[in-house]
Amino acid sequence: MKPYSKHILLCTGKTCATKGSEDVLKRLRENIDEDGLKGIKTSKGGCFGVCKETEERGILCPVVVVYPEGIWYERVDTDNIDEILDKHIKKGKVVERLFHYKLEQ
Ligand code: FES
Repeated sequence: MKPYSKHILLCTGKTCATKGSEDVLKRLRENIDEDGLKGIKTSKGGCFGVCKETEERGILCPVVVVYPEGIWYERVDTDNIDEILDKHIKKGKVVERLFHYKLEQ
């Protein structure tokens, strides 16, 4: 495995997938390549549980998590990827308008 400093996980569980998470992941990987960003691992995974947090299922989907900061983002669409890469990954600032949760460390 190549060394990496950031790990971006994208939920591609059923509810997030119906709201476009595979497109979000595709855009994320394309933008990382286009920007020449190094040391960023991307992964997808099954349901992260956020879709069940609201009475109307899936309002907060798709969900993205960035480690090592443990920042969870909600309602991430393809148009938000640039902002997450620019603010969070490049500048280390949380994108507050998409913030969902911060993992206790
Ligand atoms: S399917 Fe993504 S949080 Fe449940």
